[in-house]
Amino acid sequence: MMGLARLLVLGNLNLDLGVGDIPAWPTPGTESLGHWSIFRTGGSAGNTALAAASLGVPVELHAAVGDDPLGGWILRSLSEAGVDCTAVRRLPAPTAFSFSVTHPGGERTFFSSAGHLPFQGVGDEERILEAPSGSVVIACGYHLLPRWRAGALQRLFSGCRERGLVTVLDTGWPPGGQFDRQELQQVLQETDLFLPNADEAKLVTGAPTLEHALRGLDAWVPAAVVKDGPHGAWVVERGRLVHVPVEPSEPRETVGAGDAFNAAFLYARFFRGLDLEPAVAFGVEAARLALLSDPRRYPATDEVVRAMGRRA
Ligand SMILES: Nc1ncnc2c1ncn2[C@@H]1O[C@H](COP(=O)(O)OP(=O)(O)OP(=O)(O)O)[C@@H](O)[C@H]1O
Ligand SMILES: [Mg+2]
Repeated sequence: MMGLARLLVLGNLNLDLGVGDIPAWPTPGTESLGHWSIFRTGGSAGNTALAAASLGVPVELHAAVGDDPLGGWILRSLSEAGVDCTAVRRLPAPTAFSFSVTHPGGERTFFSSAGHLPFQGVGDEERILEAPSGSVVIACGYHLLPRWRAGALQRLFSGCRERGLVTVLDTGWPPGGQFDRQELQQVLQETDLFLPNADEAKLVTGAPTLEHALRGLDAWVPAAVVKDGPHGAWVVERGRLVHVPVEPSEPRETVGAGDAFNAAFLYARFFRGLDLEPAVAFGVEAARLALLSDPRRYPATDEVVRAMGRRA
């Protein structure tokens, strides 16, 4: 039976923990006290699913957690936010977490546990491929998920395309900056829309400047949107290069900024039918609003529309 198109989010779930501001790097064996903290469901897939649900998109999560109490807590938080978690697997491993230390000025250092992530596959392929035509499949956190490699995600994306699903990739930054360019290019061959940030775009293409990177990406994928923090984002499509600005702000922490953007942009583009540039404009504003909330809250559609209207 065909249903309404939905957003399928594949990727890493974890607990986001954090503390700030920590001025100097600590001496081993000492304690550092921060005056604000983060404790929330995160990981690229977690953030994306929460941000999309807040906009009213039907979201189906294809991810995993461990079989410990933390995994249960993360699943409850997602279900309560309206995310369909029936395809999320419980793996016999501790649930991953990511601990960030924020330094004055916003620079962040992360300590992350691999937890269940090395055991997570691409998900229930049959169920993913049964999604109604026009559904959007975003895969995030590629470099944290070793079982997505060796062609696994590429094959899934290829099947998705055959069934009329839109394939979207946000790899995130590879740990240590190390990745296999040829392997990634193969996944990109099955990708309709690539959503890196500016540093990732440069790393992936090996280009010295952002402009070179943007032009390089144009040869690889039908369309890309490159996130550029306080500068907004760049649209790359068939020789076209368009900059979409955002009002620069000074959020206390920016963990998950890119995921908030991805969810809002995909909502505007595929669930509201906006053209690329207006959809990117919606995405950058939604991400900015999410970053300015404290505790973190992802905006609803009317909040984004109102904020954009104030600026028009
Ligand atoms: N300082 C800022 N002021 C206003 N908006 C911001 C700021 N930082 C980020 N944003 C918004 O968030 C979007 C995504 O940010 P960014 O480029 O940092 O993504 P990212 O590096 O993929 O983030 P992450 O990987 O940490 O989730 C930007 O396009 C912008 O809309
Ligand atoms: Mg990112």
